[in-house]
Amino acid sequence: MAKIAVDLPGLRLKNPLLPASGTFGFGDGPIATQVPFAELSGIVLKTCTLDSRRGNPQPQIYQLPDGCLNSVGLTNPEVAAVIDQHLKPLRRKYPALPLIASVGGSSLAEYQAVARQLSDSGCVDALELNISCPNVAAGGLHFGTDPEAVYQLTRAVKAVIDVPLYVKLTPNVTDIRVIAKAAASAGCDGLTLINTLQGLAIDVMRQRPRLGNNVGGLSGPAIKPIALRLVHEVYTVTTLPIIGLGGIETAEDVVAFMLAGASAVGVGSAHFHDPLILPHLAQALPQLLDQMGVADIKNLVGQLRFND
Ligand code: SIN
Repeated sequence: MAKIAVDLPGLRLKNPLLPASGTFGFGDGPIATQVPFAELSGIVLKTCTLDSRRGNPQPQIYQLPDGCLNSVGLTNPEVAAVIDQHLKPLRRKYPALPLIASVGGSSLAEYQAVARQLSDSGCVDALELNISCPNVAAGGLHFGTDPEAVYQLTRAVKAVIDVPLYVKLTPNVTDIRVIAKAAASAGCDGLTLINTLQGLAIDVMRQRPRLGNNVGGLSGPAIKPIALRLVHEVYTVTTLPIIGLGGIETAEDVVAFMLAGASAVGVGSAHFHDPLILPHLAQALPQLLDQMGVADIKNLVGQLRFND
């Protein structure tokens, strides 16, 4: 059987499959409760901020045939509650399960404070810096689309934490390579991409947007070709490990992301159709690799060959 374990900074993963941030809430969402965590390679939590946030007006989610538009707005009970009520119990119950917490904020000082608390909790193996949420007025795309802001923020957060830092990039930029290089030069340990693409769905009878917050972020199979292109572009300009995501549904999709340059992948929207998609993919991957004649999934990373 082909080997599917991968090692990334701070993360020894038994397979390259992680839930995308938000999918499992804080380990307690409607999808998470159906999933046997012990079978997973790790968990990425929903983004949290220094103070609690109620999120955006309903409806926050609009399902499309090939994707999902969301404008949740970083709903969370504040970082201290996330640590006490969610991270500590998760760590107690699953001492060896890699846990990645996601850091949000509206200012450099807030990002630093949240990251420091999460790192100091001793409960996380790595942090993901969310500078790419399209659904908040400040602290999402404002940071993630400006290379200088990405550099300063990444550096400032790195300085106050003791665990590896993955910076989550937005596709809503002209050239993602510039942003990736800024994060890399500031000393992050890995990159996660892509967050959602900004979109608008319209209810023509009401002549209004479908989402309460008007615009939202598109995820799911509709964005997969864009995500693959961007993962590959980033792979060409950095040696940092990439966690690739965007519409992954099948073992073939996982392999495609790894060929494009990802060392691990995140799965989000596919959970709406199959809450057990991660164990199902973990089962299917070795069979696909055997068919391809690949002994170890690590050998696939970045092996995409462009036509002449
Ligand atoms: C949200 O809470 O609005 C989604 C999170 C994100 O896109 O980063």
